[in-house]
Amino acid sequence: MIQNDCAVILFRRTLLPTTRRAKITALGTYVPPRVLTNKHLEKMVDTTDQWILERTGIRERHLADKGVAASDLAVEAVKKLVASHPFDLQEVDVIVVGTVTPDMMYPSTACLVQHKLSIARTWGFDVSAGCSGFVYALNAGAQFIESGRAKKVLVIGADVNSSMTDFTDRAVCIIFGDGAGAVLLEPAEEGEDGIIDYEAQIEGMGGQYLYMPGGGSLNPASHETVDKKMHYIHQDGQQVFKYAVKKMSEMTERLLRKNGLTGQEVDCFIAHQANMRIIKATADRLKMPTEKVIINIDRYGNTTAGTIPLAMQTAIDEGKLKKGDLVLLAAVGAGFTSGTTLLRWAY
Ligand code: COA
Repeated sequence: MIQNDCAVILFRRTLLPTTRRAKITALGTYVPPRVLTNKHLEKMVDTTDQWILERTGIRERHLADKGVAASDLAVEAVKKLVASHPFDLQEVDVIVVGTVTPDMMYPSTACLVQHKLSIARTWGFDVSAGCSGFVYALNAGAQFIESGRAKKVLVIGADVNSSMTDFTDRAVCIIFGDGAGAVLLEPAEEGEDGIIDYEAQIEGMGGQYLYMPGGGSLNPASHETVDKKMHYIHQDGQQVFKYAVKKMSEMTERLLRKNGLTGQEVDCFIAHQANMRIIKATADRLKMPTEKVIINIDRYGNTTAGTIPLAMQTAIDEGKLKKGDLVLLAAVGAGFTSGTTLLRWAY
């Protein structure tokens, strides 16, 4: 049955035009300077550095100061991108921002980023996909390049998780951090691979395990919602963990199989940094050697839509990601959402 499905998908891919793929041509990342270590957390909740490190792989995370929002982190990431790859921001056709901690309900973070960067003529929108936010934004942005409707797309993942973290809840506050990353998408040259393929899936039954119930149309902000701590992250960690391990393996295996590849042929595995054990379980299943697996959760924790671009930067800094490398991205997040992407690093 699986074989038949693969055949159908492969057949469909061959009908798609492959000459105008999207490729990543630049990257910029930003984390706020303030660091919260596990030792600090020991003084705030009933936990230990050892427990956090062993159960999650996290040593410290960066937190934004009061008044610093997702759009601020996003703008800093874009500035770093432009510094490393100078180009005229006025040429940006579309801005796609993955975030679940937008500055406010509306306007979108994309609008706020556009305004702060004074990009005169562009359009854009936010993507709400939890920890899959960057992968979803990337593949949404790539469609505009592939269709020929855009030549430059800014894809941003930015989250200020501390804005919705209950720092008295030890099961949640140890995991999350704040951070952002941005990539520039441009058309690949003819015959160049760029973004090759992706798989994504939403399964709404998972909504009950990871959510923020307050502040939306169901539970508008009131004294009662605040008293009941409804504006914080609510999580059943074990359920999320079990789903993430299973789904990340399933999706990555399916995407590789669909493209006639094995884990060993991938040069660099960049997974959402939610828990070191989830990343390692997926890498083991794909028989991927440790040196190809990018880990920076120890420094940043889970920055939701920020993790994958931050891990791309880590991979570059550690000499594990270079032009021509075959890269596998994977993420699972609130929703549930899941997504994986296969791409050839283009610069
Ligand atoms: N410090 C010390 N003990 C803690 C703790 C902490 N910060 N948090 C929970 N515990 C305790 C629990 O109370 C429990 O105690 P008990 O056995 O006496 O009842 C014990 O540790 C085990 O709890 P459990 O929830 O089973 O731990 P876990 O191994 O599943 O780890 C998470 C908890 C949250 C780290 C883990 O489930 C996880 O990473 N889940 C995925 C979360 C995630 O990725 N979220 C983002 C979306 S992608």
